[in-house]
Amino acid sequence: MSEAGFTVAIDGPAAAGKGTISRAVARAFGFAHLDTGQIYRAVGVKVLEAGADPADPEAAEPAAMSLSDADLAHPGLRTPKAADAASKVAAIPGVRAALLEFQRDFARRPGGAVLDGRDIGTVVCPDAEVKLYVTADDETRAERRWKELHAKGDVRSFKEVAFQLAERDARDASRADAPLKPAADAVLLDTTELDIDAAVAEAAAIIKKRLGQG
Ligand code: DC
Repeated sequence: MSEAGFTVAIDGPAAAGKGTISRAVARAFGFAHLDTGQIYRAVGVKVLEAGADPADPEAAEPAAMSLSDADLAHPGLRTPKAADAASKVAAIPGVRAALLEFQRDFARRPGGAVLDGRDIGTVVCPDAEVKLYVTADDETRAERRWKELHAKGDVRSFKEVAFQLAERDARDASRADAPLKPAADAVLLDTTELDIDAAVAEAAAIIKKRLGQG
């Protein structure tokens, strides 16, 4: 079958494994991949670097509207500070609106696309062929993020990482516009007890079935 317009939407809270699964299935099926969190991180960092408050719509909306490739390639997007700023700009409806068309165009590109984020299955691509909601329990997610940060030389404590993750998830899930939640028709994938290979294999099996290959 033709894979033109085949979209895989992967949502879930922070550090649940969305990024790893998305990259792996994109590679396996030859689909393009868009990490939509990177876009919000780029907007957040742009606002911070302008010396403004990421929660201020008057600063964040123009930043979202003028986002460049250079902003998306900024080397500081994976830091906890960038994550916090991303979550703040992401609560502003004007920011989300400015980024919507780019994400939708990406999702419908010929050859198939995987997008991961918080609202892909609910708002960006409600008609996606496959929707996954990837979760893991709070402790497991905090431990994964803490290990990731430590490997990069970040010395913050496990407790601090867990607190920041919980704070960000609460903000992402409670905002009025496009909150983090599973789409009604999403398949739930809990990665608490799964290693990377097993989680990727489950996701790939769901995609294969929808492609008529399973
Ligand atoms: O996936 P991530 O941790 O890189 O995302 C950073 C923040 O961006 C996240 O806390 C909320 C926001 N975000 C969003 O609101 N919608 C998306 N589709 C992706 C990310």
